[in-house]
Amino acid sequence: VRLHNIRHYTLDKHHTADDYPYGGGAGMVMKAEPLFRAAEWVYSLTDAPPGISMYEPPPEALVGEVPSIPEGSSFPVILMSPRGRLLNHSVATELALQQRVILICGHYEGVDERVHSHLVTDEISIGDYVLTGGELAAMVVADAIARLVPGVLSEGSAEDESHAAGLLEYPQYTRPATFRGMDVPPVLLSGHHAQVAAWRRREAIRHTLHHRPDLLEAVQLTKEEARWLQELRYEAEKQEE
Ligand code: ADE
Repeated sequence: VRLHNIRHYTLDKHHTADDYPYGGGAGMVMKAEPLFRAAEWVYSLTDAPPGISMYEPPPEALVGEVPSIPEGSSFPVILMSPRGRLLNHSVATELALQQRVILICGHYEGVDERVHSHLVTDEISIGDYVLTGGELAAMVVADAIARLVPGVLSEGSAEDESHAAGLLEYPQYTRPATFRGMDVPPVLLSGHHAQVAAWRRREAIRHTLHHRPDLLEAVQLTKEEARWLQELRYEAEKQEE
């Protein structure tokens, strides 16, 4: 992960990255020039050190024109924006397959429309609310991507989790087997792998039905699982009565 300060790509002595909106109105708008220069310069970099670092542009990044990003960019240049497509597991998976991504953080009241229309290849939102800047959103996206990159988590952890199979995660327990009179479900102590797997799948369906029933519409269930779902729905209705 390399961090870039857009102000470093301004050419005036005050390092102005924003300006008043044409046509008037409240708030400031992020200027197109520093954003284009920063993204284009960063696009031209071919390697990065391991780990997380702050990048300082060399003087040549600040003279003349920097070559623009080609039409068929080989990786996405993404603006974090409340008008983007909503981040979900499938978007994270798609981005995790990329060799590189550039995440641009907007700020103030918005960014010059020419950034939306002529610089970025994609826009992503992390939810239907407005943040003061794209930085937290970029961190959320970076985290959601990183944990899907092979080697970041221990093997198998990412596949098993909530949303990976379109369902919420099954409940987890660790020792002790009894805590303040609350017992771990006996099947988990049985050592019977097939029964544990079936129990987990059924509980994942139960949790999803309870917390996020909307997710169930997109999940492929086996015949047996569809029957469980019917039973769980019936149980839930009975409890409501
Ligand atoms: N910038 C401001 N609000 C945002 C949001 N909801 N998602 C992504 N970037 C943003």
